[in-house]
Amino acid sequence: MADKTHYTELGLVNTRDIFKKAVSGGYAIPAYNFNNMEQLQAIIHASIETNSPVIIQVSNGARNYANATMLRWMAKGAVEMAREMGSQVPICLHLDHGDSFELCQACIDSGFSSVMIDGSHLPYEENVALTRKVVEYAHQFDVTVEGELGVLAGIEDEVQSEHSTYTQPDEVEDFVKKTGVDSLAISIGTSHGAYKFKLAEGEEVPPLRFDILKEIEQRIPGFPIVLHGASSVVQSYVQLINQYGGHLDGAVGVPEEQLRQAAASAVCKINIDSDGRLAMTAKVREYLANNAEEFDPRKYLGAARSELIALMKHKNETVLGSAGKA
Ligand code: 13P
Repeated sequence: MADKTHYTELGLVNTRDIFKKAVSGGYAIPAYNFNNMEQLQAIIHASIETNSPVIIQVSNGARNYANATMLRWMAKGAVEMAREMGSQVPICLHLDHGDSFELCQACIDSGFSSVMIDGSHLPYEENVALTRKVVEYAHQFDVTVEGELGVLAGIEDEVQSEHSTYTQPDEVEDFVKKTGVDSLAISIGTSHGAYKFKLAEGEEVPPLRFDILKEIEQRIPGFPIVLHGASSVVQSYVQLINQYGGHLDGAVGVPEEQLRQAAASAVCKINIDSDGRLAMTAKVREYLANNAEEFDPRKYLGAARSELIALMKHKNETVLGSAGKA
């Protein structure tokens, strides 16, 4: 990276203040992943229309897909667009699932205001050491850092795990103290992707482990907690996809009431990617199936973008409770 950019030059904020307000206010900030222009436009429009703070997040897979330089300037463009529309909603640019010190450093140097270092698959002491190293670098620039304890099952771009391991509450205090992280992602039963639970006929989605969350909160009172793998896998989208030629059989996610319950606790950041992917795919499939003569990408991507805005407004207003909190 030739030229270094500080996130304040891009008009971004780190997570410190928005998390503090979210923890005390009993709501969660949405963290939506983006890879392309329509997704980013939708996130910003939904945030403005609901007056919600927002975290726009980029995974390593997104960087590989869209190009890191392109994404950085897209984020700047998104902030400028919001300001031109007269909105001051706080926007944070976050690296999702950073897997090395070097990647976190590159993101910090290019203008990210927050990074996740995911050492959750490492032995505990190695996770502590790696996370500490990223925190030491990031805090020089007032960039905030998310660490993780416990492993989520599922697939998230290039991050994949077959089995989940719940966060051990007796590790969190030591981890937070030794690493200096600003927030902690935990594993309490969510997982990445559209197939979160394997349910037998008539079986209900099992509840998240709120008992573990409660214990964690008791160990580190008021400390910002992050929930990954929090898509609800909206069934109307799954049905639409299947109706128009898709094959998503048995796709199921976290019920909205459970996310609402989590958002009311110290959980102050909720990661949502799969629901956006499903909404886009459903609308593109529907549009193309019903408009066989159409070949303008603005038509089918426009339909997808409108649906994304509606989805995210719904999340901000009724699931996360972040609407009106900007
Ligand atoms: P979902 O797959 O449930 O949307 O989770 C996304 C996520 O946690 C990104 O880090």
